[in-house]
Amino acid sequence: MKKTDFLIIGSGIAGLSFALKAAAYGKVCIITKANEEESNTKYAQGGVAVVIDKADSYANHINDTLVAGDGLCNQAIVEMVVKQGPERIQEIIDYGINFDKNPIGDYHLAKEGGHSAHRVLHFKDITGLEIEQVLLDKVHQNPNIEIYSHYFALELITEHHLGKTVDKNADKTCFGVYVLNTTNHQIETISAKITLMASGGAGHAYSTTTNPTIATGDGLSMVYRAKGKVRNMEFIQFHPTALYEPGVYPSFLISEALRGCGGILKNKKGEAFVNAVDSRGSLAPRDIVARAIDAEMKKYGADCVYLDMRHIAKSELLNEFPNIFAKCLSIGIDMSADLIPVVPAAHYMCGGILVDENSKSSIQNLYACGECAATGLHGANRLASNSLLEALVFAHRAIESAKKEIDSIVNCSNIPDWNDFGTSQSNEDILVTHNLREVQRIMSDYVGIVRSDFRLARAMRRLKLIYEETESFYKQTKLSVPLCELRNLIQVAYIIIKSATLRKESRGLHYTTDYPHKNNQELKDTIF
Ligand code: FAD
Ligand code: SIN
Repeated sequence: MKKTDFLIIGSGIAGLSFALKAAAYGKVCIITKANEEESNTKYAQGGVAVVIDKADSYANHINDTLVAGDGLCNQAIVEMVVKQGPERIQEIIDYGINFDKNPIGDYHLAKEGGHSAHRVLHFKDITGLEIEQVLLDKVHQNPNIEIYSHYFALELITEHHLGKTVDKNADKTCFGVYVLNTTNHQIETISAKITLMASGGAGHAYSTTTNPTIATGDGLSMVYRAKGKVRNMEFIQFHPTALYEPGVYPSFLISEALRGCGGILKNKKGEAFVNAVDSRGSLAPRDIVARAIDAEMKKYGADCVYLDMRHIAKSELLNEFPNIFAKCLSIGIDMSADLIPVVPAAHYMCGGILVDENSKSSIQNLYACGECAATGLHGANRLASNSLLEALVFAHRAIESAKKEIDSIVNCSNIPDWNDFGTSQSNEDILVTHNLREVQRIMSDYVGIVRSDFRLARAMRRLKLIYEETESFYKQTKLSVPLCELRNLIQVAYIIIKSATLRKESRGLHYTTDYPHKNNQELKDTIF
């Protein structure tokens, strides 16, 4: 059994930025299921929203976040994140992270949907890669931090594993995790005083997503299985503009910053159709734009719509969006001369593990931050580029709280080994891949941008069968990452459908044809 003070699950911006601070208070162990840099963070394009321009104000950023969140944000949390943002950004600039500047040396600020000002710090169109690389370099230099890649977290260890019966309402404590070392296929135990879940999102619950393949909702499912609380999982953000490239999975993102730079969404007749539903046109918040695209595609039976960048100077496109330009060119699209075919794709999990203002989950000694956590910032729809900021602010708050607790917690030393007695190696991987595809199809067809009670009920009935089959297979089979990810995605899908079914209104990212309006009397979070 390994023992550590701080155990971190995930090596994206949330996990790494927490690790760098936690190392001042004890031994830190990071486990991550793939190569250490593989994360949603690495693929972030647009940048980090933060108030640093004198012409901008906290009040404007707060208001934009609240408007995008469609009445469901926690205002105190929004104010706290926006106001603490500049300090956290200065810290990562001091770590060595570069953001683009204009010729007179001021930061170049981009604009994205729902923002009333240019306030997005970015490094070209590969902001996430820059952040991930610098944070990893800092982590490698720190002797108090160990990082284990290809370690897949299986289950949180709680009183349940010590032989006690734990019901949903009893206090629970996290003592560490069981992990699958995917290099030697051994299951190991890690005992930790404090555990941070920083495992990211769950884009792969859907058949088209911008998320890399690590995004399978593992952390959320582990917490739910450990009887921790989750919140607002019906709010899955579809990014309006993923590159339409049939057969390619996951999808390549076409950053909203392109629309911030003047790009216009058009239908196949060349009409700028979003203006018909919102005066902000192509730069309206994402829920509105994604729905407008969905409606347009259904109206014309089209496979995609188009982003028109042809009126922007080629030199500007090349300078600001070199990565996107190169990707488009690689498939024969010169964005200075051709329309870019785009479709909405699952992109961001606005709900997640319920946490308080200090990133504390409902399970003792378990914190959560980053995309896997539901802090109250995003409400029913995240404002673009607010998530990297949220991860930094909540990682900081988590360590500020955890450092006061760490010395009073003792590692649990009587954790039993993982018991896989009676299981055997599977030679039926097709059962896993088939069920995964089926879950993703159910979610995309019935629980996507537009929902209804009929579709949700149908989705739940079908999911139940897949759940039963998979659980029975799981109990008989030696564990593998694909099997565990499938099981987690089924859990995530169940939570999304259940939350969506409970919300009898349309708000933000949850639109249902049965209740097409907001119901302000019923305004509340879905927590269970
Ligand atoms: P991640 O960066 O996803 O890291 C999660 C980590 O957990 C990974 O290392 C993963 O391997 C690990 N992990 C997961 N499960 C397990 C397990 N079972 N065991 C061990 N390890 C595990 N947001 C913005 O604010 N601005 C942007 O410009 C922006 N652009 C984006 C572009 C794309 C294409 C995508 C996909 C997202 C974008 N986002 C953006 C969202 C943002 O990138 C993410 O929300 C954020 O990076 C999440 O950080 P995180 O640390 O919480 O999770
Ligand atoms: C983008 O660049 O469009 C993604 C920004 C985000 O998801 O916040």
